[in-house]
Amino acid sequence: MSKVTVVGAGAVGASCAEYIAMKNFASEVVLVDIKEGFAEGKAMDLAQTASLNGFDTKITGTTGDYSLTAGSQVAVITSGIPRKPGMTREELIGVNAGIVKGVVSSILKYSHEAIIIVVSNPMDTMAYLVHKVSGLPKNRVIGMGGALDSARFKYRLAEALACPASDVDGMVIAAHSDTGMLPLISKAAYRGVPVTEFLSEEKINYVVEETKVGGATLTKLLGTSAWYAPGAAVSTLVQSIVCDQKKLIPCSVLLEGEYGQKDICLGAPVIIGKDGVERILDLKLESAEAEKFASSAAAVREVNADLKNVL
Ligand code: LAC
Repeated sequence: MSKVTVVGAGAVGASCAEYIAMKNFASEVVLVDIKEGFAEGKAMDLAQTASLNGFDTKITGTTGDYSLTAGSQVAVITSGIPRKPGMTREELIGVNAGIVKGVVSSILKYSHEAIIIVVSNPMDTMAYLVHKVSGLPKNRVIGMGGALDSARFKYRLAEALACPASDVDGMVIAAHSDTGMLPLISKAAYRGVPVTEFLSEEKINYVVEETKVGGATLTKLLGTSAWYAPGAAVSTLVQSIVCDQKKLIPCSVLLEGEYGQKDICLGAPVIIGKDGVERILDLKLESAEAEKFASSAAAVREVNADLKNVL
C-alpha cells in the first residue's frame, strides 16, 4: 500500500497532492492542515476531479488528526509560512522551525517507517532540523530543493537554446537559496552535447543567475511563493520512492564527507528509490564550482546556527 501524507494544504501542499493524484501511482493521499476544515475542503475538491482526470488515488483531508496518516510510506512537510516579495527563504526560520519540529514528531508517531520530504523554508536548514529532532537515518530525510531548482535550470536552458525542456539535462546542487544555488553548467547538455557548444558566456551567465533567483522572481510576480513547480518536483520524488524508480534527482541530504562537508544538509545528486536516499553521488567538481559549493555550505551553516533555540 502506498499511502502518502502531505502536511500543509496551502498552495504548495495542494499542488503536491494534485500532481501525486494525477500521476495515479499512490493508493491514498492524506492532506493535513491546522486551519479548520481547509484540508478537508481541498481534499474533497480534488477528489471530485477523479472521474474527470481518470485517477484512482483516494484523497483524504484532516484538520490535524494525524491518526488518519497512519502507515504512510512517504510524508511531505510543506507547513510554515511562505516568503513574501523581498524576503529571503532564510528569514522564515524563526516561525518555521517550531512548526516543522512539531509536524515531524506527529508524523512519526503514526508512520514509523515514513520517508520524510522537506519543502518548508529555509529548506536545507529545515531538512537538517528534521534529522536532528527525529534521529532518523539519513536515507529517510530528503529536502526537495534541488529537484525544483534543476527543473527551473532546465527551463532557463531550454529558453536560451530555443528547444524543448525535455531535450535538456542539467542539475543544480548546493543550497536552495538565492545566492547559494550552484547550477552545474559543466554537466548541462542538449541531448548529450555540452551546452557550452551552443551558448555564449553571456547567455550562460544569464541562465545561471535567473536560475538562482527562480523562486524570488516568482514571489515578486505572484505576491507569495510558487506552487506548480514545487508541487511537481515533490511528486517526482514521491513517485521515485513509491515506484522504486531509482531516479537521479538532486536534493538536500545529510552529507558525511561528500563535497568536503559533514553535519549539514545540502543539495547533491542522489539516487532515489524505495529506501529514499539510496546513493549520494560525490561528483568531481571544477575548481570554481568546488569553491562555490564551499561558500554555499558556509552560508547554510550560519543559518543552521539559528536552530539552537529549537534543538
Ligand atoms: C521556491 C520555494 C518553494 O523556490 O522555495 O519556489
